[in-house]
Order: sequence, then structure tokens, then C-alpha cells
Amino acid sequence: MKANPKPYFIVLFAFLQIGLIAQASNRGKVIINADLGKDTISRHIYGHFSEHLGRCIYDGFYVGESNTRIPNTKGVRNDVVQALKELKIPNLRWPGGCFADTYHWKDGIGPKAGRPSIVNTWWGNVTEDNSFGTHDFLDMCELLGAEPYLSANVGSGTVQELADWIQYTNHNGKSPMADLRRKNGREQPWNVRYWGVGNETWGCGGNMTAEYYANIYRQYATFMSGWANNGTMVRIASGANSSDYNWTETLMRNIPHNMMEGVALHHYSVIDWSAKSSATQFSEEQYFTTMKRALQMEELVQRHITVMDKYDPRKRVALVVDEWGGWYDVEPGTNPGFLYQQNTMRDAMIAATTLNTFNNHCDRVKMANLAQTINVLQAVILTKEDKMLLTPTYHTMKMYNVHQDAVLLPATLQNCDFALGKEKLPALSASASKDKNGAVHVSLANIDSKEPKIVTLEFRGMAVVSAEAQVLRSPNLQDYNSFESPNKIQPAPLRQVKKSGNTVEVEIPPFSVVVVEVK
Ligand code: AHR
Repeated sequence: MKANPKPYFIVLFAFLQIGLIAQASNRGKVIINADLGKDTISRHIYGHFSEHLGRCIYDGFYVGESNTRIPNTKGVRNDVVQALKELKIPNLRWPGGCFADTYHWKDGIGPKAGRPSIVNTWWGNVTEDNSFGTHDFLDMCELLGAEPYLSANVGSGTVQELADWIQYTNHNGKSPMADLRRKNGREQPWNVRYWGVGNETWGCGGNMTAEYYANIYRQYATFMSGWANNGTMVRIASGANSSDYNWTETLMRNIPHNMMEGVALHHYSVIDWSAKSSATQFSEEQYFTTMKRALQMEELVQRHITVMDKYDPRKRVALVVDEWGGWYDVEPGTNPGFLYQQNTMRDAMIAATTLNTFNNHCDRVKMANLAQTINVLQAVILTKEDKMLLTPTYHTMKMYNVHQDAVLLPATLQNCDFALGKEKLPALSASASKDKNGAVHVSLANIDSKEPKIVTLEFRGMAVVSAEAQVLRSPNLQDYNSFESPNKIQPAPLRQVKKSGNTVEVEIPPFSVVVVEVK
């Protein structure tokens, strides 16, 4: 007869089991096939968005040339230009957003004193003096080394107005609009490649049905060609709101693919549109819900791509996520129409996980625009008079810019959980790429609010000689950079990196972003 195990054996066995389970739940693994990459991660996935909204343009980018002590170049803040160049901003969308469908570009050209004023009915009913117009924006893009992405007025504009805008910005021959541009001081065309045909046409851009908009799109797109001198115009259709797959399906079915180079998608990480909650004072539950909304981007991208694949299996038409980010209540005491919010480690988690999703789907996602660059929503820069600060989202995007135009490496992630009560989310997110010099970068986020994760990176198809990593972390999820303490959160070298043969083990602190470089 078998003897019963002694009670202390049972205790020891139980302890080991729990130890193993606990260890297993805080461990992840990424297998990276360093020799099997084929798709390029377009740098345009790292794009930004600047709307005439609150203090994004005025006070943010533009302070004007006179009556300011803030150093500027043709009215654009020098500190902002330097920060965005260091970020390697690849493109910038303008002038909206909802504002775009009220904007008439001819109001913003010519001598500034003679420009008409309008009222910005979407954002705070403030008077817009049109002092920042087409020349100001396109010259600023040249200063930034960023490609402009112009969003055309379909909701309250005309086909002629858009055709004229393209002629004005892109035609180098003699024509009425090209001559007007020259009269206004610009000889050479800017050759704008990226054009959005309306914005949120299902909502603020005209409350259209998908079928109606598809017809309107065809009409506008017909008159957009002819002025692009180098023939590489990218026409982007106003896309779906989050999970409106029918919208994408209708556009893909009804618009000939030789008339459309991109279809947009907008998705914001919002807890609840009627109770968005504070950007800085949030609970564990609110953090969890925000991350649930942010991680939904993976499903949205996958499912919109499935629809697009049905009509465009050769992936000619790009998915362009031209608005994404976290959206909270405005900072207390600020204009509710200005959408000014602070930016914490929670936002770094949104950025890190979302950018991994875009990288991993770079065969279809060719462009994206974080909303918005300065002083609005999930901004990378905040300004206050002559002061400027860089947010945790800025630092995340800067750490990730190693992926720009690098080759995506196929990677398999064995994940672990971030649990809250009975609910679970995948704690880890990752993507990997190889740059033109052969360096491999793996970007990782651990969204778990409490537990560090040990992640083993196994590299196949390369010999690992060296490994180092940077981390973005802070003691509290709610931490942010303020004007009093602008460098509280900054990337730093990660010491917990162990290399052994072609394997690298990293310990990723709770709610942190890590980018590993392997050579
Ligand atoms: O980014 C703020 C607003 O959100 C944009 O103007 C609009 O397109 C979206 O609804």
C-alpha cells in the first residue's frame, strides 16, 4: 500500500506550484525571425495631426512674427521645430479634423492684414483670423522636414475649391492658381502628395451615408488629378468610425481602386463618451478600461483589413489611421472646446501598444496620425507662453522612431496576463524590425500596472553580438511632465538586459516601454 505523503511535502509541493504559476504568468517570450522580413514599416505610420483647435496652431506651432518674445522662424516656434525634427516627424495633417470641413483655403492666402475672419464653430466658437494659412503650413512642413497631408473641405466646400487648391500648391506651369501662388511669394510648387477627401463624413463632415459619400468621393477624386506634377498623389477617403466595417466595405466596393490610394479609420481610446474622466487622476479600473479601448485597435485594424483584402487582395489601397489617441476631460479651468489635456504614463502605454499594432500590419497600414501634436488630446508637446515640455507620448514615439522605414521582422509573442478582478488583458505588446544598417530593434510595452515581466527574446536567423535597451518608466501611472518639472519622465538605459547566445532576457517594469537594440 502506498504511504500518504507527509503534510509538509504537500505544503512544499503547493508552494512550488504557485511559484511556477506566478513565474509563468509574469514571463513572456518573443521569437524573432531576423532573416525573414519582407514588408517595410512606412515612416508615415509615425505621422501627426494639427488642427485649428484650441491652442494647437495658435500658441502651439505658431506665435506670429511680431508681438512675441518667443524665438520663431516666420512665426513658427523654434523650440517646437527642433523637438519635432528630433522626433523625425514624417508627415503632418492639417487643417482638421472637423474644422477642415468649414475651411476655405482662399481665406488664408495673401497679405495677412487683408484676410477675412471666420468663427470656428466646432471648437469654442473663437474667431479665426486666418493668419496661419496654406503658405504658413506648407513652409512650416519644409522647416520640419515633414510631408504635408492636406485635409480638403467636402462638407461645405466645392469640387472647384479643392481642384484650385491642388493647382495652387502643385502646378509648376502657368495657370491661374499657380500664378496666384507666385504673386503671393512662392515660385516653386510644394508638390503636396497626401490629400484627404473630407473628414468624418459620417459625422461632422456632413452626416452622410457611406453610399452617398462614395459617390461624392468619386466626383471629387475625378477632378484631383491633372495638377500633380510628379504623378504620385495619394487620395485618402474619409474612413470609418472605429468598428463601422460597413463603411469600409461600402467604400471598397463602390469606389474604383484606381481613384483611391487610401481609406482612413478613426479610433480614440475613450472610457465613455459621456464620462471621459480626468487625464491625470484616474483609478486602476479607469486605466484598465482605457487600455481595453486602446488594445481594440488590433481587432479594428485586423477586421478592416479583412474587408479590404476581400476587394483589394493585392493591397493597393492603404489603411490610413489618421486620427488615434487617448481622449479625456479637459484640464480643470480650461476651455472645454479646446480639448487641452495632460499626458501620463497611461498615454505612453496607448502609444506603445498602438504603434506596435501598426508596425505589425505595415503591409496595409501605410500611414497614421496621432491626435494631436501640440496642446490638444494626446499631444507630444505642451506649451505655456515661452515654455515647452515633451510628454511621455513624445518620448515613446521618439524611442520607436528606429522602426521608421525599417523592415518588419516576423515575430511570435507568447504573452502573459494583466488581470484586474475577473478581467484580463494581454500584458505585453511587441514588434520588431531591421534597419538599413542591419540593427534589429524590438519595441515592447508592459501595460500591467503592478507586475514587472521577464521577457525572453529569441533571435533566429542572426548571430547576436550585442544587446542594449532603453526604458521609459515612472513610479506612478499618473505621473506626467509638468512645466515645473518637465524632465520627470524621460527615457533611460535599461540595466536588466542579459544576453546569452542568441537569446536576450529583459525585465520590463510595470507600465513601461522598452526598446531593445540588437546587433
Ligand atoms: O481630433 C479632434 C476631433 O476628433 C477631430 O476634429 C475630428 O475629426 C474627430 O472627431
